Amino acid sequence: MGIRISPSILSADFGNLVAQCNLVAAGADWLHVDVMDNHFVPNLTIGPVVVESLISQVSTPVDCHLMISDADRWAPGYAELGAKSVTFHVEAATNPRQVARDIRSHGARAGLAIKPGTKLEHYEDLFPELDMILIMTVEPGFGGQSFLADQLPKVQRAREIIKNLGLDIWVQVDGGVSQSTIEQCAAAGADTFVAGSAVYNTQDALAAIANLRSKAQSATDTSWWCGN
Ligand code: DX5
Ligand code: ZN
Repeated sequence: MGIRISPSILSADFGNLVAQCNLVAAGADWLHVDVMDNHFVPNLTIGPVVVESLISQVSTPVDCHLMISDADRWAPGYAELGAKSVTFHVEAATNPRQVARDIRSHGARAGLAIKPGTKLEHYEDLFPELDMILIMTVEPGFGGQSFLADQLPKVQRAREIIKNLGLDIWVQVDGGVSQSTIEQCAAAGADTFVAGSAVYNTQDALAAIANLRSKAQSATDTSWWCGN
């Protein structure tokens, strides 16, 4: 079973973004780009102009996490400008089924993100439209927050639903994912891991990624959902 590590550039130096992306390129499967609008979340990052420029300058595929209101209007544009994966929040979409279809129609993977307080069960019928489900393990908006272990049952439930439906959907976790929490995430059912501070706030980002990957892999190998 493949493990995917997606370093979040939210913890990188925004004055040197391309260099910071290249720093992790040899170890990262994806590059997690957090788009925040100071409306859906109380923080502001970058928008389509900068995302498009980054995509043109880095080789790692971009995993765009949109923490913005009115996903119906804005999310498909990120797929159009070249993000290989576009994740929007279900809480920010009026018609999430259509948003996922629009993202896919531009050739990108469609991801649906769920905040800690949002119940997964209401959205089970959307799963066939999705390539990834993102279970937030912090309140979205900021890097460096503590991992919310009470979200692990939701990760497990997402994996159960995917297994029951016989679908190939990635389960991503984002927020507080570190050397000490990644194994719990993998054991519960996650296969795609966002890590911001655990990668960028270290002396050796590539070593951090390698360690995260090996911990996630061994926890996956012995997990209920993938183990032997
Ligand atoms: C937070 C963002 C995360 C953030 C995670 O809302 O979605 O991607 O960068 O940061 P860490 O890994 O430091 O918790
Ligand atoms: Zn994120």
